[in-house]
Amino acid sequence: MLCYLNGEMTPLAAAKISVMDRGFLFGDGVYEVVPAYCRRLFCWRRHMRRLSENLDKIQIAADIGALTEPANALINAAADADSALYIQITRGAAAVRRHAFPAPPPPPTVFMMAMALPPRAEEKYRDGVACRTMEEFRWNRADIKSVSLLGGVLAAQFAAETGGEEVILIRDGWAGEAAASNIFAVADGILLTPPADCRILPGISREIVLEIARRQNIKIQERDIARAELGAADEIWLTSSTREIMPVAALDGAPVGGGKPGKMFAKMSAAFRRFIEDGEE
Ligand code: PDD
Repeated sequence: MLCYLNGEMTPLAAAKISVMDRGFLFGDGVYEVVPAYCRRLFCWRRHMRRLSENLDKIQIAADIGALTEPANALINAAADADSALYIQITRGAAAVRRHAFPAPPPPPTVFMMAMALPPRAEEKYRDGVACRTMEEFRWNRADIKSVSLLGGVLAAQFAAETGGEEVILIRDGWAGEAAASNIFAVADGILLTPPADCRILPGISREIVLEIARRQNIKIQERDIARAELGAADEIWLTSSTREIMPVAALDGAPVGGGKPGKMFAKMSAAFRRFIEDGEE
């Protein structure tokens, strides 16, 4: 399997970075996961826009225009026609371990690989999944797609150990996002999702769902959702580049709506699939 590291295509097993890399020592870097369908990167421009914004937020200068060609080469060489491209850019390796940015800045470390996706579990989309909630314990800059993912790792492990697909994180009584997905709720025919401020990652799938919903004249409210309101919602969905739109059928053991995916999910997931088939670049 091939990967891209600092301008070179190399076998993944042979790719090496310095132990002084700030991504390794501090989690000082950002990443992207870009889905690919039929060997075509999906919404590449949107992902590059978010990557560029994230690099600006943490003040890493990197030429991401150079990534398009090797990104396509990796997707073409992947074992499966549907896969996901992982991109990670860190602040690079410095001579000493000091928290503040090294001066002058070292060259960033730029890494990409194609990842195999688990086979699509159709029953999850047909029957819905179980989710748990837990108190938000990550940091206050969830808008940054940081490679410092220990919070997400521990939350996902909690989900795995409690038989849930995902964990929805609750901050001061308000639902924000899940460990690796954004959340939507439907109440009284209105589509609700928390606003894209620093408490959540501005998901690309979230952005697409909102655009599709607007085109379908669905009423939308981007606002805070209280935990109690979430529990009483007719529908809850997770969205992410690897899950697309996934319906939640149970929250902390209690059924969501009728305990099965709702009508708005059926409509929106079909529209999302059409959007994928249209193949935005
Ligand atoms: N996760 N919120 C968090 C915390 C995420 O990690 C993700 C994505 C999302 C959804 O964003 P998008 O729609 O752009 O994928 C929301 C990726 C897939 C991951 O870490 O693997």
